[in-house]
Amino acid sequence: MLSVAVLISGGGSNLRALLEAASDPGFPARIVAVGADRECGGLRHAERFGIPSFTVPYPRFATRDQWGDELAAQLDVWQPDLIVLSGLMRLLPTGLVARYAPRIINTHPAYLPEFPGPHGVRDALAAGATQTGASIIVVDEGVDSGPIIAQERVPVLPGDDEHTLHERIKPVERRLLIDVVRRYATAS
Ligand code: GAR
Repeated sequence: MLSVAVLISGGGSNLRALLEAASDPGFPARIVAVGADRECGGLRHAERFGIPSFTVPYPRFATRDQWGDELAAQLDVWQPDLIVLSGLMRLLPTGLVARYAPRIINTHPAYLPEFPGPHGVRDALAAGATQTGASIIVVDEGVDSGPIIAQERVPVLPGDDEHTLHERIKPVERRLLIDVVRRYATAS
């Protein structure tokens, strides 16, 4: 059984979908812990599913590396086979990436390599794109630059704003993420 730790920063709707999938006894992976870089709504999903959680607040550390060291220490407790960044809005320090690579994956609300970075949805709209997408990638030292594992196009519709477009992308992300985790689990 593949053990998965999930890192979040926000509402955690994709985390919730993964928790729901993993609560099916037939699902080949289990979520062992949820971590966050701040107090956020997504931690409540972990609580509801009875999954342990931890918070490593970024501002409490003098450097990104020190924050990453504490995050690694928390992750090590759970010995995850796979780490899923599901809306973690913080660049991981290179030391942490090197420690776990290639076992860290990230969801991104755009069709990478288009529109990397923290505002993938906003940037697609600003560019006047008629289609964008959802991607799951392996995390490397860069910003959304790692190998693409799964991706799918999502149309931009007339009248879309950042919220409506993002809400249309997220269900695609969820489906891809659950499928990718299942694939990792059955391959391991
Ligand atoms: C998701 O769309 C995820 O891809 C994105 O944050 C959202 C989290 O939503 N991540 C990034 O933009 C990372 N660059 P959620 O908190 O509702 O799951």
